[in-house]
Amino acid sequence: MEKLEEILNQGLSAFEAIENPADLDQVKSRFIGKNGALTELLKGLGKLSAEERPAAGARINEVKDKLEQALAARRESLREQQLQAQLAKESLDVTLQGRGAGRGGMHPVTRTLERIEALFHSIGFEIAQGPEIETDFYNFTALNIPDNHPARAMHDTFYVDAQHVLRTHTSPVQVRYMQNNPPPLKIIAPGRVYRCDSDVTHTPMFHQVEGLWVDENVSFAELKGILTDFMQQFFERDNLRTRFRPSFFPFTEPSAEMDIGCVICGGDGCRVCSGTGWLEVLGCGMVHPNVLGHVDIDSEKYIGFAFGLGVERLAMLRYGVNDLRLFFENDLKFLKQFN
Ligand code: DAH
Repeated sequence: MEKLEEILNQGLSAFEAIENPADLDQVKSRFIGKNGALTELLKGLGKLSAEERPAAGARINEVKDKLEQALAARRESLREQQLQAQLAKESLDVTLQGRGAGRGGMHPVTRTLERIEALFHSIGFEIAQGPEIETDFYNFTALNIPDNHPARAMHDTFYVDAQHVLRTHTSPVQVRYMQNNPPPLKIIAPGRVYRCDSDVTHTPMFHQVEGLWVDENVSFAELKGILTDFMQQFFERDNLRTRFRPSFFPFTEPSAEMDIGCVICGGDGCRVCSGTGWLEVLGCGMVHPNVLGHVDIDSEKYIGFAFGLGVERLAMLRYGVNDLRLFFENDLKFLKQFN
């Protein structure tokens, strides 16, 4: 019995001393395991007399229960300690202020496109679209650029196959629209175009906006008026000077190129305008009767004008960007300036 009390006390203090949960089982086996101290005592029961045996057996079992309870309690308290330690280590202060999500902005080209669309929409132009992979017919032939015509060489074309190209301009949308819509019609067609060309002022993909107005009585004077008005609104300068120079495009006759007074130097002459004081901003003209003929519009009854402008070029001039490639490099430091 004395030995029993000793084992109980030793066991209780040994359990209490355990700091590492990994030691629990090893210490347990020292006291209540198969070869533990208690088991040794149980084996000794046989040496006791028949009268002493039941009381001794009962007491041994009591001690065993106590030890097991103490061990379980220790196991539980170590588990709790470990949990608390982990919680403390991983604690988050959910009341701290957030880092703040960055705020995005519209890409300058998108911004410019939307500005152009809004201005033309306000004077009654609808928006039309066409495919970027275009047939040779729509990109060239229907626009009065037959096979082997030198004007084909004006565009450095990406060919998809013998019959298909990446459209080199938005002008084919004119043809597609006129095929499906009888005049009077008044549209702009914004979109991506592709040319095999790359330097400070050219990227293989860029954006154009095409314009087309066909009715019974549309004149070159209206072409000049609308485009002059547009440029003045676009650059927010009522006194912006414009001029139209004779030019050549196969799909217009007569054709012209439009210049605006240099918005960088105000006309004095600078690097951007090559010292001329003028900037070329678009091509335009009266729709060629052959183009109307391709889409079965009677060119004796109907007449119209068309124009095509480069969106990046207008964006560069409006925002003072001096390298076209910046628009396509996705450099956040550049883009953030347009937020
Ligand atoms: N398609 C021409 C180009 O890409 C631009 C152009 C010129 C469009 C005159 C027109 C136009 O509609 O009338 O260079």
